[in-house]
This record gives sequence, structure tokens and C-alpha cells, in this order.
Amino acid sequence: MKLALVGAGKMGGAVLTGALGAGVLSAAEVGIYHPDEARRNALAERFGVAPLSDDGVHQAERILIAVKPQSFAEVAPLIARRTAAYISLMAGVSAEVIARRVGSSRVVRAMPNLGARVGLSATAVAALPQATPDDVAMADRLFCAVGTVYSVPERLFDAFTGLAGSGPAFAALFAEALADGGVRVGLSREVARDLARQVLRASGALLETETPGSLKDEVASAGGTAITGVMALEQHGLRYATMRAVEDASERARELSESS
Ligand SMILES: NC(=O)c1ccc[n+]([C@@H]2O[C@H](COP(=O)([O-])OP(=O)(O)OC[C@H]3O[C@@H](n4cnc5c(N)ncnc54)[C@H](OP(=O)(O)O)[C@@H]3O)[C@@H](O)[C@H]2O)c1
Repeated sequence: MKLALVGAGKMGGAVLTGALGAGVLSAAEVGIYHPDEARRNALAERFGVAPLSDDGVHQAERILIAVKPQSFAEVAPLIARRTAAYISLMAGVSAEVIARRVGSSRVVRAMPNLGARVGLSATAVAALPQATPDDVAMADRLFCAVGTVYSVPERLFDAFTGLAGSGPAFAALFAEALADGGVRVGLSREVARDLARQVLRASGALLETETPGSLKDEVASAGGTAITGVMALEQHGLRYATMRAVEDASERARELSESS
């Protein structure tokens, strides 16, 4: 068995689905571990892979840890093996802590975001020096299957979490506020929500080839509507509020890491 997935929930399931879909691994090369037999059988059936018992997980070459951080202390002794490699996507649990609890320093840590569900995750990856090039390559291939991988030193994971991990919530808030603005000026809720989504999609696509500044300048013509709106956003502190959101979210990620 090339990979045992421990924690086939929202994120683990998204990565598994992406990896199988992209051909990174075949269904025969992956198994799902869950301590509850009925649960692991149901999960294995849902994803079309093998269910793994305690013995099965101990035979896997690599183990992808995708349980909640608060479950890790309980799960670690069940999956610990000195000769295995571990890839973790748990938020706020450092590679050193993982290595200590599983007894192997072949640890690669990844931080995906919700974009994984639609193949657009921004995923940070960092490895302990004892991880082999093949361990890192496997992590890269797994997370490339659900988006884009960034090699980021682990000391910057909290910063990455503040922006990329939390960012979808900030973008959702902005989309909701745009729609609320539309309703305020007379559009129906349904139309306003649709327009807000389309504006964000189009802006995301345009930002593939333009900087945020050049995109803004292109829309904001002299004396026009967009520059009037930009001034209102500046007056009400959008830029400051957004920068604070990233800074505070990253600080919260640091607090959570320290308590793990
Ligand atoms: N969701 C995100 O946007 C996101 C982003 C970045 C990182 N992450 C990280 O991804 C991890 C999982 O988050 P999630 O949102 O995917 O949570 P989730 O949907 O609750 O998934 C956790 C899964 O772990 C299973 N599980 C619990 N105890 C287990 C055990 N002892 N052995 C094997 N499996 C076990 C649960 O099974 P049951 O259903 O039977 O309880 C559940 O399916 C977290 O560490 C989180 O920090 C998530």
C-alpha cells in the first residue's frame, strides 16, 4: 500500500479525490484507516479504495494525516511507526510535534485551503530534513492534484494560514457585502448575489495576468464611478481592515500552533 489516509473528512477526502482523479495514485495503492470498522468500511466504499485496519496502516509506505488537530494525540499512537513517512495537512501542528508523536522524522507538512474542493487550493509545503526527496515529491504531487503548491519555510506557515487559509472567508465576506450593496441600490437579492460572484470570478481570472493595481486603474477612469467607489472604500478603511484581518488571523494561527 503506497498511502494510508487517516482522516477521510472534508480536506482528506478532497485531496484523495483529486489525487485519484489526476492519476497520482491508483485506487489499489490507497487505503483509508479509521479505528471504527463500520466507519472505515463505509469511507472506503465511498472513495472506492481499501479499508485499512491497524495492521493495514502499519504496512503503508506513507501515511497522510488529515484528522482534526485535536484528534491527533489520540490517533498518533495508533499510526506511529519509525520506518514510515508522514504527510500532514493538520493546521497548527508542527512537523517537530508530529515527528515526536509518531516516532519518525520523515515528516512533510502541508497547509491547503478550501480551494482544494474545486482544484484551486493554494497549498504550502515544508519538510523536515529527514524527509526523503521521494516523500517531498509525493506530497507535491498529492497537493498539485488539488491546486498549486508553494514551497514555504515552516516558520511562515502561520502567515500563509492568515492569508491563503483564511482568505476564502474574507473573500466571501466581500462578496456578501457587494451583494448587500446591490440590494441597497435596488437589485433583487438573487441578481445581486449572482453579480457579486461573477465580478469576483472575472477579477480572479484577470488577476492571472494583471497586478491588482493595474486592474484597478483600468476600471477606474477619470472622474468615473469606480474611482468614486474606490475613494469610499479607502475612506472606510477597507485596505486597513483587510491587512488587519490577515495579521490577526496569522497571529491566531500562531497561538493555536503554540497550544498544540
Ligand atoms: N477544511 C479546511 O478548509 C482545512 C484547511 C486546511 C487544513 N485543514 C485541516 O484538515 C484537517 C481535517 O479537517 P476537515 O475540515 O477535513 O475535518 P473533518 O471533515 O471533520 O475530517 C476529519 C476526519 O477524521 C476522521 N477521524 C476522526 N478520528 C479519526 C481517527 N482516530 N482515525 C481516522 N480518522 C479519524 C473523522 O471521521 P468521523 O467522521 O468518523 O469523525 C473525519 O472524517 C484538520 O487538521 C484541519 O486543520 C482543513
